[in-house]
Amino acid sequence: MAEREQWATRLGFILAAVGSAVGLGNIWRFSYVAGENGGAAFLLIYILCILLIGLPVILAEFSIGRRGQSDVVGSFTKIAPGKPWALGGIFGVVSAFTILSFYGVIAGWVVYFLYAYVTGIAQGVEGGTYDEFFFGAIGGAVGPVFWQFLFMAIVIFIVFFGVKKGIELSNRIFMPLLAVLIIILAGFALTLDGAGEGLRFMFSPDWSAFGEPGVYAAAIGQAFFTLSLGMGAMITYASYLPKDTKLPSAAGTVVTLDTLFAIVAGIMIFPAVFTFANIDPTDGAGLIFITLPEVFNLMGGAGTFFAIVFFFLVAIAALSSAISLLEVSVAYAMRQFSWNRKKATIVAGVIVTLFGVPSALSYGGPLSDFLIFGMPFLDAVDALTDRYLLALGGMISALFVGWGWNKVDALRETGLTDTTIGAIWIWFIRIVAPLGILWILILNIF
Ligand code: PHE
Repeated sequence: MAEREQWATRLGFILAAVGSAVGLGNIWRFSYVAGENGGAAFLLIYILCILLIGLPVILAEFSIGRRGQSDVVGSFTKIAPGKPWALGGIFGVVSAFTILSFYGVIAGWVVYFLYAYVTGIAQGVEGGTYDEFFFGAIGGAVGPVFWQFLFMAIVIFIVFFGVKKGIELSNRIFMPLLAVLIIILAGFALTLDGAGEGLRFMFSPDWSAFGEPGVYAAAIGQAFFTLSLGMGAMITYASYLPKDTKLPSAAGTVVTLDTLFAIVAGIMIFPAVFTFANIDPTDGAGLIFITLPEVFNLMGGAGTFFAIVFFFLVAIAALSSAISLLEVSVAYAMRQFSWNRKKATIVAGVIVTLFGVPSALSYGGPLSDFLIFGMPFLDAVDALTDRYLLALGGMISALFVGWGWNKVDALRETGLTDTTIGAIWIWFIRIVAPLGILWILILNIF
């Protein structure tokens, strides 16, 4: 068997992990879920979920992967042979696969918007009508599938040759550029008429929202989604690490950068939401595709430049996340069926792309009347996987490291033996994170 691939440097791993974490989740999904769940109350609960659950769980997943040196299922089996924990890994493969199916659709919309700005189509739209433009653009039977396929073809192409080539470099260049760009756009958003209202929506909580169980489920789902947790992406990436990398600081870096991206993206989007009459915070999955074009339109000539750079960088950010999602299934198939990387990538990539077609057709397209629990197919798949499957997957990772694995080994793997942080971490993954997740899940079921 070929030698297992490894990241070239520790920075390479951190960049890849940040590249996985920062993506559509921070910009597209954060704003739409925060908008639907009351803004500030959601943000507060989301940050608590990140700190109390996300941070300990990401460190748990890093240590499982590095110790296991295998895909998400293989890592569990290697560390605890013959135990049922590997079921958690299978769960992970299913979740990663399902997420990628609709992730490719949204990323396809991003690529379409890039195209529409490059060719001038989007600039021809009259201000205040970008909602119609959005539904027109992604509503047909052919368009959204075409853009989804195009995006997925690029993902498959890169994974085909191996994840470590290319993404380290691209993340090092494009990620900082995206950060600078959204800071500039957030600055511009603060000059809009709706800025005060947007900031209040984001930062001044409506206390009644804390009584809504759905807000907690949305927050924990978003925390797991945005940190790429609960489905093995971080386990798989950490499995390409050499033994001597410091995991806790890598975990802290990923969590901090990812959270900052989301908050700045919120400051960029919510002032715009309250500036235009045709937009409502609860508009759902189309939110950024309607708000930002309205903002670019207001910027006049500079708007075209910002729009092109923005949609390009978001497409790159989505690409590095989608690569990590596909890598979960590919690493699994390579080990489980002894396939080589090329075969595993083509099979998994093609199936997951086809699986995304119903999502692509569910926004204004032929499947738009096919609702599940009142939601378009895409939103339903998104909500089901992210609210429930990821939280469960994250709970299994925490329980595994906390209880299934021996504590001495787990601490040694993270380099936290005999430290206060280590003691706190063990306590969090044993008790706080699993109970927190369980409590939120139970709250939602009853
Ligand atoms: N974290 C990515 C984002 O925010 C999405 C993702 C989820 C990537 C799960 C990998 C695994 O866009």
